[in-house]
Amino acid sequence: MTEIKTMEFKDDFLYLIDQRKLPVSYEIFQCKTYRDVDFAIKDMVVRGAPAIGAAAAYGVVLAAKEFLHEDRDVFFSELDKAMNILNRARPTAVNLMWAIRRMRNAVEKHKDLPLDKLYQRIKEEADRIYEEDINTNKSIGKHGNAIIPQKATILTHCNAGALATAGYGTALGVIREAFYSGKDIMVYADETRPRCQGGRLTAWELKMEGIPVRLIADSVAATLIRDGKIDVILVGADRIALNGDTANKIGTFMLSVVAKAYNVPFYVVAPVSTIDFDIKSGEEIVIEERDSMELTHIENIRIAPEGIEVYNPAFDVTPNENITGIITEKGIIKPPYIENIPKLKEA
Ligand code: MRU
Repeated sequence: MTEIKTMEFKDDFLYLIDQRKLPVSYEIFQCKTYRDVDFAIKDMVVRGAPAIGAAAAYGVVLAAKEFLHEDRDVFFSELDKAMNILNRARPTAVNLMWAIRRMRNAVEKHKDLPLDKLYQRIKEEADRIYEEDINTNKSIGKHGNAIIPQKATILTHCNAGALATAGYGTALGVIREAFYSGKDIMVYADETRPRCQGGRLTAWELKMEGIPVRLIADSVAATLIRDGKIDVILVGADRIALNGDTANKIGTFMLSVVAKAYNVPFYVVAPVSTIDFDIKSGEEIVIEERDSMELTHIENIRIAPEGIEVYNPAFDVTPNENITGIITEKGIIKPPYIENIPKLKEA
């Protein structure tokens, strides 16, 4: 298996694969401060819900390092400011807020330690978030493999792979597990306009690993589903409400509607950290709107009329009734979600 190191914390810096540049060039983006991490999340150097969370955790480590030699009061107030800034870097993926909450709790728990010792605890918590995510994804893969037929054509949207996580991936983690367990797998990757995470990232990841993949324009998916060419659809998630409503990359909802119309199983694949136990339904999920340039330009070349009005939401919400199951590290959650999701918090 080819290892993709989405991020690495080394010699007091965070190194990220620059996902804006793939697949044309493989470049590493160095974050020296938490402000660099904030920029990297906003500009999508790093993206994908669990990857954003892990990167932000290392952002907190960089902030702690930066203010380590200040007075304790200054240290704590600057750290708090950094955590608030990182927490707001992108609004939809709840893994970001989840990771910052874990970092805050670690700071609070060890706040009476000398600052150099506290820094060590902060670094250890970020390492745990990173390592746990990889292990979580491997467990998700094992649970998910149970629903993949021996010979399967799988459709996926956006990139829920190693690049979107600390490693291995969620939806692509299930695909990896199925492939390496000897199943005959073929993947259709939606291009995923406007940022083309499917064409640029999923296609790159799977091709590099030798997993058969075919790239399609987003508008092709419905025809493939209608024609019986897709056995199962696997997508990631940015935030899941208590009733199972799921925010994921724009276009996921449309896919779920067609899947339901043609009885094709539609699974959301995500760690429990993507569940927002504080919200009852998808109506409460904030949907990020991104720059109009994502639609009007490709690589700085204008492809739409100057001055055109643009609506560019980055995510949509798939209603729970369109979701066959939610594959997590704790097993596959089935409807009724409103009864079964809260149990995950207790488990
Ligand atoms: O805008 P992005 O690229 O951060 O959106 C990513 C997605 O929508 C993914 O499907 C989701 O974060 C799950 S990643 C395991």
